[in-house]
Amino acid sequence: MPKNGRLAVLISGRGSNLRSLVNAAREGALDAGVSVVISNREDAPGLAYARQAGIEALCLDHRTWPSRDDYDRALALELWRRDIGMVCLAGFMRRVGPPLLEAFPDAVLNIHPSLLPSFPGLEAQRQAIAHGVTISGVTVHLVTTNLDDGPIVVQRAVPVLEGDTAETLAARILPEEHRAYPEAVARMLSGQWVVEGRRVVRRP
Ligand code: GRF
Repeated sequence: MPKNGRLAVLISGRGSNLRSLVNAAREGALDAGVSVVISNREDAPGLAYARQAGIEALCLDHRTWPSRDDYDRALALELWRRDIGMVCLAGFMRRVGPPLLEAFPDAVLNIHPSLLPSFPGLEAQRQAIAHGVTISGVTVHLVTTNLDDGPIVVQRAVPVLEGDTAETLAARILPEEHRAYPEAVARMLSGQWVVEGRRVVRRP
């Protein structure tokens, strides 16, 4: 359960989901704020955006730490120091493990461009087209140690059309991502939920 609305957004690239969270918070649609952006790549365009937007932005290059656990401990330390309540992975191209997940129980979210459990991992849109599904979409889920596998918080669907490519499908899913992530964060912050097995359900 997130302990406050101070968000950290972890990225590796473009940062359009980061923008959607910043905008939702600044427009008052979220009772939260993006307090820090962390990238594992200095050249991530999302880092430059965050700095322009006046948000603290740091690069923690994973190659600087000897192991995945050491890197995750370094991340957790930076987040603790800033009293972060919830961690949003948004195109963060790293698996995160126990040192981070145990520091933020039920408070680490990820966004994935398919309707999980279909098509986890890389190139989800390409996988969806190759499989021939006619509906795909986006999933925001709690992060566990298994890749793209935690309890689902929000899903939104889009049609897959004849002639779609991975790129055209990605372009149709992306606006739904930008709606789904703020919605999921708001749901988490409402506190009106519990995890029952794999399910995120309304608290009785
Ligand atoms: C999004 O498609 C997200 O679902 C996936 O990586 C992409 C990140 O895009 N995990 P952006 O950096 O937020 O624009």
